[in-house]
Amino acid sequence: MTGSLLELTDLRFAWPGNAKDCLDIAELQVAPGETLFLHGPSGCGKSTLLSLLAGVLLPRAGRVALLGTDWTSLRSAARDRHRVDHVGYIFQQFNLLPYLSALDNVLLPCRFSARRRDAAVLHAGSERAAAEHWLTGMGLDASVWRRQAQTLSVGQQQRVAAARALVGQPDLVIADEPTSALDEDRRQAFLDLLLSACATGGTALVFVSHDRRNADRFGRQVSLPAINRAARAEEAAA
Ligand SMILES: Nc1ncnc2c1ncn2[C@@H]1O[C@H](COP(=O)(O)OP(=O)(O)O)[C@@H](O)[C@H]1O
Ligand SMILES: [Mg+2]
Repeated sequence: MTGSLLELTDLRFAWPGNAKDCLDIAELQVAPGETLFLHGPSGCGKSTLLSLLAGVLLPRAGRVALLGTDWTSLRSAARDRHRVDHVGYIFQQFNLLPYLSALDNVLLPCRFSARRRDAAVLHAGSERAAAEHWLTGMGLDASVWRRQAQTLSVGQQQRVAAARALVGQPDLVIADEPTSALDEDRRQAFLDLLLSACATGGTALVFVSHDRRNADRFGRQVSLPAINRAARAEEAAA
């Protein structure tokens, strides 16, 4: 294994039933603890790429490896385990379980991953203390911890989703346009919390947005259309 956390080489991906590749990327690497801002217009394949990085989708060709393990070498259940052990995912629509409390949503990764549970206990003394730590870190006080996720505001849900991604110190947090529903002040505040939480935990962050405001706060910026040969082929044909 090299020093990379995430390594992508000669990746090609096409959606089923689609003759043309959606993504064709020679190389992309993310180092441990690095913060990467990935941008590009709507529809350029950002969410698709994140699903490939997290082993939710598998490429048609090429290699995507997290901590030296190629996602395609794992069976489905092992992929799920590798993901929950090492990756926190903040979805665009948050994907909280609506009837669970904020706290129980944050505890979910600890239920599914012994590694995340052990890290949480080591870090805070108990899973619950760790969940409360990250909720507090995201600016959510005890008055919201017991509330059902579905009763929370969009901004609160987003912070719960971030706390859930961070609990048990995964190696990588992936965030898919998590600030698109927020106004500029809240966007800044959320980014402050997320970046400082990742720095504290030594967690790498891959943050996707079509909006390049605040991109300079990240260690590195990558334009997806610039690295995607499938997009260049499309442009050349047009
Ligand atoms: N589940 C899917 N099935 C087929 N095509 C899809 C699916 N999801 C996305 N696509 C297509 O893949 C391309 C990239 O989409 P997406 O990754 O969502 O872009 P972005 O996140 O940059 O807006 C688009 O052309 C989109 O229509
Ligand atoms: Mg998207």
